[in-house]
Amino acid sequence: MDVHKIGIVGAGQMGNGIAHVMALAGYDVLLNDVSADALSGALDAIDRNLSRQVGRGKISEEAKDQAVARISTTQTLSELGRSDLIIEAATERETIKQAIFEDLVPHLASHTILTSNTSSISITRLASRTDRPERFMGFHFMNPVPVMQLVELIRGIATDEETFATCKTVVDRLGKTAASAEDFPAFIVNRILMPMINEAVYTLYEGVGSVQSIDSSMKLGANHPMGPLELADFIGLDTCLAIMNVLHDGLADTKYRPCPLLTKYVEAGWLGRKTQRGFYDYRGEVPVPTR
Ligand code: CAA
Repeated sequence: MDVHKIGIVGAGQMGNGIAHVMALAGYDVLLNDVSADALSGALDAIDRNLSRQVGRGKISEEAKDQAVARISTTQTLSELGRSDLIIEAATERETIKQAIFEDLVPHLASHTILTSNTSSISITRLASRTDRPERFMGFHFMNPVPVMQLVELIRGIATDEETFATCKTVVDRLGKTAASAEDFPAFIVNRILMPMINEAVYTLYEGVGSVQSIDSSMKLGANHPMGPLELADFIGLDTCLAIMNVLHDGLADTKYRPCPLLTKYVEAGWLGRKTQRGFYDYRGEVPVPTR
């Protein structure tokens, strides 16, 4: 199946990154969010990130202008119904995602493929709430979307081969690499990455190391581009906690229990970079550890 028009639900960090790469690859993008502020913030972020790529000589000014021209926005979810492929990138809460799919279904063209950028929620369960489980799958980008090479493609129990092949073709056109994952809690990347981040928080909680020593240990000792606590702030501590809870509930193994200190930061509303405070305080010139 040929894909031309892509609908994206959610104009946050992931949604705007997905709109950016899709438009750059030549797809027409319709970006939806309930909030007009989120939509204008997303267009600003896309402009800024495309300019960064122009500045580094990765793309031409003309390619940037063409990409920007391919993106339109709407606050009306039903307008996405004419898309060939829809990627839902709303908040990582199952009730919100289910409500979006239920609202979308009556407006969809018969050929439309529905996907979710969920980082951990069951694709099979989300698909079961729609009229097209065979044309439903997981389409999971990594953050920052314009930079990270991987896209996880997750088949639900009913996903058909044409749907998988169509999504794989889209990933190829983005110049990214697809990894196929089975539909089990948190798939591949987060199944491995989140327990590592959670263990870093336990290492801090138990006083084995400070924020700075934990992060430099993993950067200099394991060649990670960011330390685990810095990365947790980058991803969002609420997202990290939500994924740990999905692993804990879904696999029923105590090795996935979220660290109480992670829970405490989330309860404080210290969610990382997006709220300017997490394991680091970002309100000054340079990030300062909060413990
Ligand atoms: N848009 C476009 N380009 C961007 C960008 C953005 N939002 N952010 C960074 N870049 C580009 C820069 O322009 C730069 O490009 P060049 O290499 O061509 O010069 C490159 O990325 C590196 O950027 P910087 O020099 O500014 O910064 P850096 O070297 O410190 O790298 C980083 C930043 C790429 C984010 C790097 O620190 C990194 O790879 N960190 C780990 C990220 C990671 O692990 N992501 C996965 C998170 S898990 C996930 O996403 C799954 C989930 O469901 C939670």
